[in-house]
Amino acid sequence: MAKHIQAVRGMHDILPEQTPLWHHVEGVLQDVLECYGYQEIRFPIVERTELFSRSIGEVTDIVEKEMYTFEDRSGDSLTLRPEGTAGCLRACIEQGLLHNQTQKLWYAGPMFRHERPQKGRYRQFYQLGVEAYGFPGPDIDTELILMTHRFWKRLGIGDNLQLQLNSLGTTAERLQYRAMLVDYFRANLNLLDEDSLRRLGTNPLRILDSKNPDMAAVISTAPEFANHLGDESKAHLEAITQALDVSKVDYVLNPRLVRGLDYYSNTVFEWVTRELGAQGTVCAGGRYDSLIEQLGARSNHAIGFALGFERLNALVELSKTRIPNAGSDIYFIRVGASAEPAGLQLVEQLREALPHLKLLLNCGGGSFKSQFKRADKSNARFALILGEDEVANSTISVKPLRNDTPQSTVAQNELADYLKKIL
Ligand code: HAM
Repeated sequence: MAKHIQAVRGMHDILPEQTPLWHHVEGVLQDVLECYGYQEIRFPIVERTELFSRSIGEVTDIVEKEMYTFEDRSGDSLTLRPEGTAGCLRACIEQGLLHNQTQKLWYAGPMFRHERPQKGRYRQFYQLGVEAYGFPGPDIDTELILMTHRFWKRLGIGDNLQLQLNSLGTTAERLQYRAMLVDYFRANLNLLDEDSLRRLGTNPLRILDSKNPDMAAVISTAPEFANHLGDESKAHLEAITQALDVSKVDYVLNPRLVRGLDYYSNTVFEWVTRELGAQGTVCAGGRYDSLIEQLGARSNHAIGFALGFERLNALVELSKTRIPNAGSDIYFIRVGASAEPAGLQLVEQLREALPHLKLLLNCGGGSFKSQFKRADKSNARFALILGEDEVANSTISVKPLRNDTPQSTVAQNELADYLKKIL
């Protein structure tokens, strides 16, 4: 026999037993988004490579080593999207959605990063992203944070996530701070690990984000950005924290929160949990006003966030929330030469009369016994049983599968009404 072909490393299958959890979480999130007036946008999974290198930043981990980039048959360099912000903005600029109008948008789908796979970190993973264009804030910054807070509340995991907040200031403020950081780390070169030495020349702010415990001491005494923010940036952050105080949403100001993508300025935030081990960031985002001009459009405002479904779903699973049962109402058993076609006809009539009826039709034949076994396994609430006798009498048997109530016989032309009553 030929050897099985296996999935690509870091790319996982989502099995039927897991999809009810996915549907539940997606449904709750979409419901909240709709209530806040956000609209769905869909854009391609593949974009020109340049879109990502220009927006995420040439010297970020994603662009330097994690992108799935290939040449297509026309010789164009294309990349599987590592995130949605760049593609969403590209689509809106290209389609004129930023002209004299604001947008509140969301998208969901697979993203691709060639990272080292581990629990909670995959090479194909699913995000829900939200982007708002045309709002200078800080009201929209607050709305997005409050909306994420409502996501967690509705999913029953509010106690397991902590909000961390920071401001990266304006580009000018960041450049000034960057120079200060470089001076500080240069004076402490012997304390830096290899990664940080490399970042010193390329992206020194990311040194603050190092997870290496040996770096903790030198990072803890580095100059803090909060002390070097301009008045406007400070006021922006303060307006958000005041609104969160009023709404009784807890947060931690984390001056070391810098994010791994280059396009941010001003507000950045992350929702983190201790429940998932090393990959504890469930949702993250921030403001990225300058990216719009960088992609060639007129100066405007932009802010957004994305959450990872694998991590969020793992949290929901840990919380033991009851996931609505996605099983069938009915398993339809039919045995005998005349019952097969008659059953199919009856089933189609039922689907017409009760369009929301979840009815699983036995396919592939089998004895009464084996069909009953399948009915039990299906978790359906009732079995409908059609044998030769029932066909001859124009009746059908209805058997409850979850309790000991005896089965009853119902006339076929009264079946739809009968089911309406018992379901
Ligand atoms: P990000 O921090 O790169 O931001 O990703 C957001 C979330 O996606 C993470 O917090 C995590 O839950 C999930 N995630 C990221 N990488 C992986 C992975 N390899 N495996 C599993 N989950 C992962 C962004 O992507 C920005 N586009 C967010 C944003 C939107 N900023 C503004 N608008």
